Amino acid sequence: MATTKANINIALTEQIATINPNIYGHFAEHLGRCIYEGIWVGEDSAIPNTDGIRDDVVAALKRIKPPVVRWPGGCFADDYHWEDGVGPRAQRPKRINAHWGQVIEPNEFGTHEFIEFCRRIGAEPYICGNVGSGSPRELRDWVEYCNFPGDSTLALQRANNGAVHEVTAERSEYKEPFRVKYWGVGNENWGCGGNFEPEDYAAEYRRFATFLFDFADAPLYLIACGPSGNNHDWTHKFFQKLRGFRKIHGYAAHYYCGTAGTATEYTNDQWYELLHRSSLMEKLVIEQREIMDEYDPERKIGLLVDEWGTWHPPTPGREPRFLWQQNTLRDALVAALTLDIFNRHADKVVMGNIAQTINVLQAMLLTEGDKMLTTPTFHVYEMYAQHQGGQSLKVSFDVDDITFSVGDEERQFGGLNGSASLSDKTLCLTVVNPHVENPIETAIHLREGEAKETKAWALTNDDIHAHNTFDEPQQVTPYTESLSVTGKTFQYRFPPASVTKLLIQLR
Ligand code: AHR
Repeated sequence: MATTKANINIALTEQIATINPNIYGHFAEHLGRCIYEGIWVGEDSAIPNTDGIRDDVVAALKRIKPPVVRWPGGCFADDYHWEDGVGPRAQRPKRINAHWGQVIEPNEFGTHEFIEFCRRIGAEPYICGNVGSGSPRELRDWVEYCNFPGDSTLALQRANNGAVHEVTAERSEYKEPFRVKYWGVGNENWGCGGNFEPEDYAAEYRRFATFLFDFADAPLYLIACGPSGNNHDWTHKFFQKLRGFRKIHGYAAHYYCGTAGTATEYTNDQWYELLHRSSLMEKLVIEQREIMDEYDPERKIGLLVDEWGTWHPPTPGREPRFLWQQNTLRDALVAALTLDIFNRHADKVVMGNIAQTINVLQAMLLTEGDKMLTTPTFHVYEMYAQHQGGQSLKVSFDVDDITFSVGDEERQFGGLNGSASLSDKTLCLTVVNPHVENPIETAIHLREGEAKETKAWALTNDDIHAHNTFDEPQQVTPYTESLSVTGKTFQYRFPPASVTKLLIQLR
């Protein structure tokens, strides 16, 4: 093991922008065991729940301060009809979840249950509407149902469903509008959301958005479907055809960095390959914002990445269409690298929604019957919650690149990556050391400031494949230490294969 040396420079007075807490957002789809079993078990379940929603999951999610949850899909969204999911539960229709295994969708978890779940975990709801197989009227009615404060039939239906609803019995607050702010106008409309050409989707977007009204004190934040990955063509053609239509607040890309090897088995090179691929999120952000600037020079439209994360090959013995996967230390580093990118681009990225919250893809939590575990990715979210709402700072990393191979090709990857934010007198520096073997001895320089007290959290393991299981749920959890470092420059040794948070109280 060799020790590498590095410098990190933090410019305390060079502030990029406030980090939108929504960058730390989530995504829960009717897919596999995310909603059913992951969130919803029903009131009669032996699994401890309140009105059908799992208590352990709510308590765990609260720890990571989820600002926003996107629902009900994903591909599911453009085949979902919201009226199926309101009213007395026993009378709700059973449909087919056509995209995800053609299982029966019981519609037990619908709009009221979703709103209730969001309230319990302290998150804003973000509803993704149906463009592919729905109509402008269906989506405008959903907005009215959720947000209209007066006595329209749909608003009264909301209040009435709230009052007679099993979940919401005696909860008079359901007479109050839900005030759902974030609305997605379709999902992946270049694919499962209708296979549109960008120009055709832009025309649909204009039509749908025209009928999505702000009701009372609940102005909407409308989100258009952006590119698959860093597709430039979709973005150019969409904005050209939008023809300056202004009723658009956000534009959402999806980027899955995929896999290298499998979820739990990979070589050192595959470790680097996946981390490198996740770091391409920065290229996406830079290039997409550049294109958006051409059409939106005043920068009124925010960039979202409302689906992202790892996507490993199906796990043997699991239903492949349920997208269940384990989550190792490598996934944690992917999450940290991505969140650091979003932080560094806080002047453009307004929301990020990792896919998906529970039991699907890069999950925060895994459940098995009444058991629940927190994944390494969860721990990154818990550590990084401190960045929410902070001022993103300019930070530079002076360190040698790592060289690795993909087949016959040699590639380079930054030897340290991270971001910094300031909230009052607290400086939060998060750093990823991707090196599988080498610790990195680093001099941290605070320009225009001095540390008076520092505490560290580090997530690492001697085994780069380490992950949490129901038998050993604490394999990958952060450790903390108080450091006796003060002054303008101090040393820290970042362990190999780690995510570290330094919380520095400034004088
Ligand atoms: O997150 C799983 C799926 O990935 C979503 O349903 C879809 O939007 C994307 O392709």
